[in-house]
Parts: sequence; C-alpha cells; structure tokens
Amino acid sequence: MIGVGGIGLNVIQGARLAGAGQIIAVDANPQKSDLAAQFGATDFIQAGPDVDTVDAIKELSAGGVDYAFECVGAPALVRQAIDSLDWGGTCVILGVPKLGSEVSVMIAGLYNDKTIMGCRYGAAHPQNDFPMIVDLYQQGKLLLDELVTSTYPVERFDDALTDLHDGKLARGVLNF
Ligand SMILES: NC(=O)c1ccc[n+]([C@@H]2O[C@H](COP(=O)([O-])OP(=O)(O)OC[C@H]3O[C@@H](n4cnc5c(N)ncnc54)[C@H](O)[C@@H]3O)[C@@H](O)[C@H]2O)c1
Repeated sequence: MIGVGGIGLNVIQGARLAGAGQIIAVDANPQKSDLAAQFGATDFIQAGPDVDTVDAIKELSAGGVDYAFECVGAPALVRQAIDSLDWGGTCVILGVPKLGSEVSVMIAGLYNDKTIMGCRYGAAHPQNDFPMIVDLYQQGKLLLDELVTSTYPVERFDDALTDLHDGKLARGVLNF
C-alpha cells in the first residue's frame, strides 16, 4: 500500500485483520515507518527520487503483490500500484487526485487477470459492517484510539497542519 496517512493506516489494519501475511507500506516520510508497523505493516519502503518503488515492492514480495492500495491521490502512484501487482492482482484506488486526472497503463500487463478498482469509504455496508467494526474495536483488534495522535483547539489549526506535514500525526483532531 502507498501512503501511510489516516486512510492508509486503515488499509494496513484492514489487511492485518483479513489475515494478510505480508503488508508492505510505502511512504515518502520516514516518520511513518513506526506508525505503519504499529498498525500491522511487516515492511516499510521510504519512497523518494532515488528509490524505484515498484522494484522495491517486487523484490520484497518475490515478484509482485496480490493487492495494491493507492492512498495518496497521485496518478503517478496509481501507476506504481498497478505496476507492482502480481498475476491476478487487484489495485484499489482510494486516494482522490485532482478532478479530471488520468493515468496511463500498459495494457499488456493487465491481461494477467489483473483488476483496477476504485473504493469510496471502504465500500462499507453500514448495517453489517458497523456492528463488526464495533466488535473488532471492543476485542482490541481494531485500533481506533491510536488513530488520533493529537487534539488541538481550532485556533491552533496551523500547528495541526505543521504536524501533519512533518509526519507526526496518524490523525489530528480539531476541537471547536
Ligand atoms: N476513497 C475514499 O473513500 C477516501 C476517503 C477519504 C479520503 N480519501 C483520499 O485519500 C487520500 C489520503 O487521505 P489521508 O487523509 O490519508 O491523507 P494524509 O495526508 O493523512 O496521508 C497521505 C500520506 O501520503 C504520503 N505521501 C505523500 N506523497 C507521497 C509520495 N509521493 N509517495 C509516498 N507517500 C506519499 C504522506 O507522507 C502521508 O503519509 C486523499 O487523496 C484523500 O482525499 C479517500
């Protein structure tokens, strides 16, 4: 999965709860490594200009992943997520890029039974999923409290934004 923010952390713990054996987290901010591990990631790749993310994922996963989640909202990262798939793999696009964004793909690479799909709010079915989420939380399996790193009075909005940019937050909450 690419992007260890509030969305990505929940992808990580969703994968853990689903029983994934290996969960590779990618983020440009090295500060996100510990958070990713806390939520269930087994590996962390620090993205950057000198790193070929697709190669790094393929090396760690011995050829490619079954599921790739884009959790940033950047077309170039959507392409990386697609390119990191193994045969039969599925790329799930969660990040929301600028309206009208497009991404190009190598059609030949998709014939190996690959799927590209979007997902909004976890494709949740509230009647069934919310009780399950509450159960998982009560059993201590779903980390919700840990998602809130800091709370701020609304006047300290700038501090919250700085902390977010510095990679200090899973989620920051503003109190009105
Ligand atoms: N599909 C949905 O239902 C849904 C719901 C809410 C938000 N979103 C979207 O999901 C995306 C993520 O939201 P969020 O709240 O988790 O954001 P966030 O700011 O908390 O996290 C984004 C993460 O991406 C990382 N990142 C930025 N550029 C990167 C790069 N080039 N390579 C690797 N990592 C990089 C950042 O370091 C950060 O950790 C946004 O586009 C948001 O609009 C989607």
